[in-house]
Amino acid sequence: MVRIIEPRFSEEEKEIVLEILESGQITRGKWTSLFQEEFARYLGVEQVFTLCSGTVALFIALKAIGVEGKRVIVPAMSFMATIDAVYLAGGIPVVVDVDQYYTMDANQLEDAVKKYRPKVVIPVHLYGQTADMEAIMWLSERHGFYVLEDTAQAHGAEWKGKKAGSLGHISAFSFYASKNLPMGEGGAIATSDRRLAQEVKKWIDFGNHPAFNVRITEFQAGIGYAQLKKLEANNLRRREIASRYMQSLNGGFVHPYEREGACHVYHLYTLRHPQRDLILERLKARGIDGRVYYPYLLNEIRGAESLPLPKAERFRREVFSVPVHPYLTDKEVDFIVEVLLSAVELAPHPLC
Ligand SMILES: Cc1ncc(COP(=O)(O)O)c(C=O)c1O
Repeated sequence: MVRIIEPRFSEEEKEIVLEILESGQITRGKWTSLFQEEFARYLGVEQVFTLCSGTVALFIALKAIGVEGKRVIVPAMSFMATIDAVYLAGGIPVVVDVDQYYTMDANQLEDAVKKYRPKVVIPVHLYGQTADMEAIMWLSERHGFYVLEDTAQAHGAEWKGKKAGSLGHISAFSFYASKNLPMGEGGAIATSDRRLAQEVKKWIDFGNHPAFNVRITEFQAGIGYAQLKKLEANNLRRREIASRYMQSLNGGFVHPYEREGACHVYHLYTLRHPQRDLILERLKARGIDGRVYYPYLLNEIRGAESLPLPKAERFRREVFSVPVHPYLTDKEVDFIVEVLLSAVELAPHPLC
């Protein structure tokens, strides 16, 4: 099976985990502090707070801003945690369409902002590429809303030389097993806004108000620390694989577009084709793990209010992702291309 998710660990992770076991300091120790400091330095932000998941990071970021009874704008295409965190934090979500890059449509966002006066906008850097942060931050300055970046899929991605997660007021990361920086489970909030950082801390430390325990263990932080060192090289390999797909795969597939000024880190390599379901069946038959991220739109699954979503509605029927993790060999990539090409040759074409 050519797998779509394949986290790999080396001697370094094993040694760190062993050291933690032998030290007896299995939570709230040096690895958590080290990871927070290193990740903050890597992103170019003042502070990073590690948390137990990306969903919790989104939830606490929203609580820190304060969204009870307030509108929060999210894009139609994302993992459901993006909208669930809004409901859990007491906000009222409004869903907008995506652009050709599968990220929030900044033109439609302007209409939505004028109509709904949101407290927060959550651009999702879907599949590993940043949303149109220049337009979104410009709107934020004009209309006075907070920008919370959902950076769960974009560790190391850049917009005009700055790292995703340092572009808005606050950002949320996930370190789930499939992510470009995996810990197994885990999340983080990053921010350079000192007032928001103080509010975030109130949700992490007990005593301020009823709260959950949202900490990670030293094991997760230690693994994250080692994985962070490999992130740039892994992202480079992901970009190499993406360009191999782009160069060798034709046959009516729509490849991802790279936004000018953005550095895409290909968390997922997402293609579009009208015969998507048939192609996925043929991939499976040849032992290749292809998947649909995501078969739903956020407004549908939770019955949220939305603007018209013509692009997302079309993309949702056509998108599918193929393996792009950094441990794929060139031979495996060529095999995936061969199977995709033969799948469309076999696929009946729509007559009109
Ligand atoms: C875009 C997006 N947002 C939020 C999350 C939630 O992260 P977690 O699974 O760590 O709670 C994910 C993770 O899958 C995600 O892909």
